[in-house]
Amino acid sequence: MTDSKVFLELSGIDAGYGESQVLWNVSLRVVEGTITVLLGSNGAGKTTTLRVATGVLKPWRGSVKFRGLDVTRLPAHRRAALGLVMVPEGRRLWPQLTVYENLELGAYTKRARERFDENLKLVYDLFPRLRERRNQLAGTLSGGEQQMLAIGRALMASPSLLLLDEPSLGLAPKLVIDMINVIKRLRDEAGLTVLLVEQNVHMALQIADYGYVIEQGRIVLEGGRERLEGSERIKKAYLGL
Ligand SMILES: Nc1ncnc2c1ncn2[C@@H]1O[C@H](COP(=O)(O)OP(=O)(O)OP(=O)(O)O)[C@@H](O)[C@H]1O
Ligand SMILES: [Mg+2]
Repeated sequence: MTDSKVFLELSGIDAGYGESQVLWNVSLRVVEGTITVLLGSNGAGKTTTLRVATGVLKPWRGSVKFRGLDVTRLPAHRRAALGLVMVPEGRRLWPQLTVYENLELGAYTKRARERFDENLKLVYDLFPRLRERRNQLAGTLSGGEQQMLAIGRALMASPSLLLLDEPSLGLAPKLVIDMINVIKRLRDEAGLTVLLVEQNVHMALQIADYGYVIEQGRIVLEGGRERLEGSERIKKAYLGL
């Protein structure tokens, strides 16, 4: 596979906080146009992996490449300007600002400001509820609406690769289904490449083109959807089968 088709490549990543190591030799690839999932239970190192990918956390060892370019030493805002954008866990919106103001603040790079109208239309098409509620304070939205807004705000940054950290967390089953459909539309209609982190393995397997399983900071399994679905390890540890 040529390098240009590999949107994100982590190679041999060791990383941690202070003295404590959390990731051990983590390598993964996200190929253009796919939804790639990173599965694992609480504390396995999923968010830490995303932080290394975005540049919020510097790895101790290993490299990060984005579309063939070595970005290991680029700060997070420079990676965002290249199109590598993350929707953080727990949403982190500005609660005292309106829906529209939150979206506006998402368009902070030059690349994003140039595509402001186009991206706003995409967000409102994907989430008509946000258009209806554009003047409402973000802090008064329901949990599901806040999750939509967090994704919408990230889309305003004009990503080519979107990293989603547990978007289904805390959502009712019906909203989880809506979220699955939105993520598929991001791939199929908006042309995005997606790295999705999930504890909800059942949900993730419904949309994964490819996936990795991380346990205690190590990648223990990878494969296409069928391989993951057929894996005894996944059935036993994550699906209770
Ligand atoms: N800022 C931090 N400082 C110190 N330790 C941290 C920090 N963030 C995470 N950790 C530790 O690193 C390990 C991996 O955490 P991480 O957040 O990557 O897990 P996760 O797979 O995202 O879990 P969850 O599904 O609960 O979000 C955990 O043991 C956690 O306590
Ligand atoms: Mg996490």
